[in-house]
Amino acid sequence: MLGFTYRDDELFCEGIRVKDIISAVGTPAYIYSKSAFLTRYNSISQAFNELTETLICFSIKSCSNINILKELAEAGSGFDAVSAGEIYRALTAGADPKKIVFAGVAKTDSEIEYALKEDILLFNCESEEEVINIDRIAGELGVKAPISIRINPDIDAQTHAKTTTGTKENKFGIDFARAMQLVSRISHFKNCIIKGVDMHLGSPVNSLEAYSEGVERLLDFAGTCPDTVEYIDAGGGFGLLYDEEEIPGFREYAEAIASEVQAAGKKLIIEPGRSISGNAGILVGEVQYTKSNGIKHFAMLDAGMNDLIRPAMYDAYHFIWPVSTTEMPDSELFPELIGGGIFMPQDVTGPICESSDIFGKEREIPELQRGDLVAIFSAGAYGFSMSSNYNTRPKAVEVLADGEQFTVIRRRENWDDLLAGEIKL
Ligand code: LLP
Repeated sequence: MLGFTYRDDELFCEGIRVKDIISAVGTPAYIYSKSAFLTRYNSISQAFNELTETLICFSIKSCSNINILKELAEAGSGFDAVSAGEIYRALTAGADPKKIVFAGVAKTDSEIEYALKEDILLFNCESEEEVINIDRIAGELGVKAPISIRINPDIDAQTHAKTTTGTKENKFGIDFARAMQLVSRISHFKNCIIKGVDMHLGSPVNSLEAYSEGVERLLDFAGTCPDTVEYIDAGGGFGLLYDEEEIPGFREYAEAIASEVQAAGKKLIIEPGRSISGNAGILVGEVQYTKSNGIKHFAMLDAGMNDLIRPAMYDAYHFIWPVSTTEMPDSELFPELIGGGIFMPQDVTGPICESSDIFGKEREIPELQRGDLVAIFSAGAYGFSMSSNYNTRPKAVEVLADGEQFTVIRRRENWDDLLAGEIKL
């Protein structure tokens, strides 16, 4: 797995033993590999740019630490932001505002004002009322707002019900007929200029057909728009290997999306999040206790659903393996290792007072003991960024590894942080 491998019975992140990082920073900890981020960014950028000019807008919500955004910005990345807070993050990290697209169904006046003042590339608009509002605010500021119309292409991207976004059941985008009506009135909006059309089908989307069909619909729609439309934004959602699923490579996604966009003479934008960040990070917890009830064995970690909510929220699968072990994993994530063995099924849980606080059910992994460090893989996307203080637990530390070095890029929260916003009467 890019950035992570087992050597000499130890998990390494780049050139450092994970257990050495943990000795310095404690658990729970998110550990990211800088080279994994950059390699994934460069591969997706290359795959698409070989076919047509493409701006990669990394989806900040998947992994938002400013140090990671800085590395990506320096590599040339743009950003997909969904709040003024994310735009602020990106700018703090050194992003070029002309490479920021701003999505979201309910942008507030103050968010729109901020983004207009920062002169971002595109507002991806999700309703006619939003366009009217952006037009009004741009007029008050005396600027022209560059907008893109987010189409809801009504395509079932065959992903988890909670992460599908491109069907009429979902709140996202504008249906074709209404989008056409909106465009027919676009000249009424004196302070907006329509620069793009966009979509986001869901995430992850492993179907190439869904993308090619979606892009075809975007291009059909762009054909009815004024020729100020320069950009076709196909959104994010590219797949990630969590286990053994079949996922298309970047090249295949590029082929499904880019050639038609190039033929239409438009520039392409994509908004990948998970496919860049997902396998670039792990969450490490320490086994506090183990127990058996005669039927099941449990290993309870000090990391919980407040640190990584994906299993509880989406029944998501994350590969789990001890950090120090003589048994190698048998997983598609580590094709370079010969693994195997027969292991006792164990439920790997967190400490939180909810039955859904389970990272893996009946996982056949080496028998865990109190004090063992356990890695939860593919946690770089929607891991820390979705973490919370639920159960009044401090958020985990974040560490970025680079070769033989590692740096703490967000310190572990302490008890004062937990109460910082509360007003004691
Ligand atoms: N663009 C837009 C407009 C989006 O809404 C999203 C994700 C992306 C790009 C990036 O998608 P990605 O390439 O990361 O799949 N918390 C869920 C995922 C929610 C995705 C929300 N939108 C999870 O943990 O699976």
